[in-house]
Amino acid sequence: MARDLTDQVVVITGASSGIGAATAVACARAGMDMVLSGRDAARLDDVARQVRATGRGAETVAGDITDAGLNTRLLDTAAARFGRFDVVLANAGYGFKRPMHETGEAELRRIFEVNFFAASALLCEAARRLIAVGRRGHLLMTSSAVAKFTLVNFGAYSATKAAQNHVCRALRLELHPHGIEVSSVHPITTRTGFFRRADEYVGQPTEPALPFGRAPAWFTQPPERVAEAIVRCLRRPRPEVWTSFTTRLAAGLMTAFPRMADVIGRRVGD
Ligand SMILES: NC(=O)c1ccc[n+]([C@@H]2O[C@H](COP(=O)([O-])OP(=O)(O)OC[C@H]3O[C@@H](n4cnc5c(N)ncnc54)[C@H](OP(=O)(O)O)[C@@H]3O)[C@@H](O)[C@H]2O)c1
Repeated sequence: MARDLTDQVVVITGASSGIGAATAVACARAGMDMVLSGRDAARLDDVARQVRATGRGAETVAGDITDAGLNTRLLDTAAARFGRFDVVLANAGYGFKRPMHETGEAELRRIFEVNFFAASALLCEAARRLIAVGRRGHLLMTSSAVAKFTLVNFGAYSATKAAQNHVCRALRLELHPHGIEVSSVHPITTRTGFFRRADEYVGQPTEPALPFGRAPAWFTQPPERVAEAIVRCLRRPRPEVWTSFTTRLAAGLMTAFPRMADVIGRRVGD
């Protein structure tokens, strides 16, 4: 039976734009209250206004996800305002396109701090709190399709997403006895601020090209599609959330046939 999300409380990081913002609105429409986080306080407030317009409650906590104590503040805010949290989506993240051997150590450490360490720490703290009070819950991370393969010049980003995928797998096995669900989300190219930010980061276009040219509009998706898939997963929990069966199948084939993965990987993103 599908779970009723009415009056459940969700904490979402990276909620000021893109997939996080769309998921906030989708969760509100499903009847959930929430705590939203991101660095841009003005955009965060705008998303919170959209949530409140549906009749649901929204608190915002602005800050860098790597700030000491931010994860704790997010969960404390949920407890103070709504009495608890049921769902946590660690979604904040960014990417850049650069050959691995030209990626500086500081750059590599920073992307792991944001995409991997902060997200892992949040879900682990949430798990400890749920276990302490004997509550069930659902923990999710926005990973990526490139958790399963990589493309030329996307090594650092893909590595963070693969690491997220493994952490979710481990947590899912370990938290099963406590009745806590864990899911990783694997979007394909999604029309958000992600690629603009990545372009700004390296000073050149970032969006991966396909073997037959740049990704056409039909091969990309709006963030609302990911948001709807996440809400479906909250209703009927599953290990991984995918919005493209073709890409999921291709990821499986690339794992089984690494030489083929190299041929595709060299062409895509070049
Ligand atoms: N777009 C895609 O094609 C795609 C595909 C697969 C996976 N993803 C993943 O989806 C997630 C969301 O990305 P998006 O596509 O929605 O891009 P986006 O529109 O750029 O959103 C990224 C979000 O993360 C937040 N963020 C980034 N760095 C942060 C930091 N240091 N501290 C706190 N918040 C931070 C941003 O908030 P502020 O700017 O306000 O801090 C923003 O809310 C990311 O984890 C990304 O890797 C995206």
